[in-house]
Amino acid sequence: MAILPILEVPDPRLRRISEPVAAVTDEIRTLIADMFETMYDAPGIGLAAAQVDVPIRLLVMDLGDGPEDAEGNPGPNPRVFINPEILEPSEDHSVFNEGCLSVPDQYADVERPAHVRARWMDEHGVQHDAQLDGLLSTCLQHEMDHLNGILFIDHLSRLKRDMVLKKIEKARAGGSAGSGSARPAGSRRKAAA
Ligand code: NI
Repeated sequence: MAILPILEVPDPRLRRISEPVAAVTDEIRTLIADMFETMYDAPGIGLAAAQVDVPIRLLVMDLGDGPEDAEGNPGPNPRVFINPEILEPSEDHSVFNEGCLSVPDQYADVERPAHVRARWMDEHGVQHDAQLDGLLSTCLQHEMDHLNGILFIDHLSRLKRDMVLKKIEKARAGGSAGSGSARPAGSRRKAAA
């Protein structure tokens, strides 16, 4: 397995439209394993193949909501979505404070449909059709945006988006943005996807 470099704004490769996955080959299985390793290392809760410079309709996710261990802590819950589609977004909306591994260290409230009916294939080629809600619904919509060249900051006002991009530029100029950046003491690490 390998940790893959994650593309960051303003890289134009993040704006490509990803192509459907034709079949789950050994190459795809290796990419999935690498994407999980990359996501856990970042760390993040979701990652689209487009973010690691492979523009295909594949994403991985782990919201840490798996079966509890002996101490009662929720365990890992790796999920793979291949060629995901949203069939029915709900009319009611919810707001989550979102972050993105391609928009380092920046977070903002984004409003999206609260529930979605989605269809996708897993890494075993099994088709799923399910109603998703909460963080899972939001995270899937965030990741699916990546497959269409859209970033969470595109859901913000132009003013807010420009502020986020300026902050990243400033942090990079100061050498404190990107991977391995030091966080202010006491700051809580939030989930990025
Ligand atoms: Ni993202």
